[in-house]
Amino acid sequence: MRNVDRLCLAHLWLAFGAFAGAAVLGVWQMWVRSPLGAHTGTPGDYYMSVTAHGVAMAYVLSTFFIMGFGYFVAVSAWSAGVDAFTAICRALGILPGSPAIPQIVSRNPPTPVSQVVWTPAVLQVLADAKVDRGRAKVMEVCSACHGEQGVSISPDYPNLAGQSGTAIYKQLNDYRTGSRTNAFMTNVAQALDEATIADVAAYYAGQPMRNPNPATLGAPDAIVQLVELGDPKRNIPPCAACHRHGAGGPIDAPVLSEQRQEYLTAQLKLFASGQRRNDVYGRMRTIAAKLTDSEIDGLAAYYRAGLR
Ligand code: HEC
Ligand code: HEC
Repeated sequence: MRNVDRLCLAHLWLAFGAFAGAAVLGVWQMWVRSPLGAHTGTPGDYYMSVTAHGVAMAYVLSTFFIMGFGYFVAVSAWSAGVDAFTAICRALGILPGSPAIPQIVSRNPPTPVSQVVWTPAVLQVLADAKVDRGRAKVMEVCSACHGEQGVSISPDYPNLAGQSGTAIYKQLNDYRTGSRTNAFMTNVAQALDEATIADVAAYYAGQPMRNPNPATLGAPDAIVQLVELGDPKRNIPPCAACHRHGAGGPIDAPVLSEQRQEYLTAQLKLFASGQRRNDVYGRMRTIAAKLTDSEIDGLAAYYRAGLR
């Protein structure tokens, strides 16, 4: 307790004491005025008592008023870092109140994971896709980077040949809604409507695959193990459970065995760091975060192994 606080507290007790004294005097005066105690005290005693009662009550009331509006406001103001005058003005409503204490905020970008939901209506849009229209759009916009047949023109761009149509559809929608961001793809996807997205997805999904079975190409045992069996000790499921053709994984799992190594490495690192966060249920973020750098390199090499 600071000295000023001690002084104020003593003052408060004094005021309580005065209040108690004044109460006793008040009761005595009532008794004197009543028929029971008539003519007990001398008029001099009575007037002394009335004066003392009045002075004590004036002291008590002004102390309580000043304490209430002054001291307690000032103390709570000091502890909140505001000067007493400002606090009193605020208490009286002359100045606006203190702003709320800043709360801890999440630094993650506020984007939804994905807005794609596999409703019957969406599956119908995919079923109604027109490959011819898709091809025309691809020739107009996409082939400059992803190639006419989905074999990209440089390691900077992913292959789309033989990619799953639902995966292409989901990724383009995620770029369009901002769930996934990329300097090139965001603008491209925002210029497409839903039917066109389904058309280009169907076109690229129908382009020939070139690397049907990377497992036959002699990758290191540890990597094959990770792909086929995962690592139960670290809670990593096998990649093949979701990423093999017909594996029965989530409908949005992309084909990896047609992809460029650079792209696979980059995406696993983006998932691991959380920069790419459009995977529903965080499936890939949880897995990628547990992989070591050399495992990521090994897995990327495994999946592109047979590509010519
Ligand atoms: C200027 C070059 C460029 C053009 C044009 C372009 N893309 Fe892309 N595309 C990229 C790059 C770069 C990425 C990888 C972005 C990333 O890392 O998020 C990409 C990623 C994608 C992906 C995600 C692939 C995956 O496996 O996740 C799809 C799908 C895609 N593009 C489809 C298209 C379609 C369809 C068009 C035409 C309508 C198109 N792109 C036009 C450069 C381009
Ligand atoms: C539980 C199923 C599941 C497992 C197991 C799984 N994945 Fe995935 N993976 C997915 C899904 C779903 C996506 C698509 C995420 C999205 O919607 O953006 C994906 C996306 C990816 C991508 C990005 C591909 C692209 O074209 O953008 C890579 C790379 C990848 N996974 C690698 C792996 C590797 C390597 C393993 C094994 C260590 C693995 N995944 C295990 C479900 C899985």
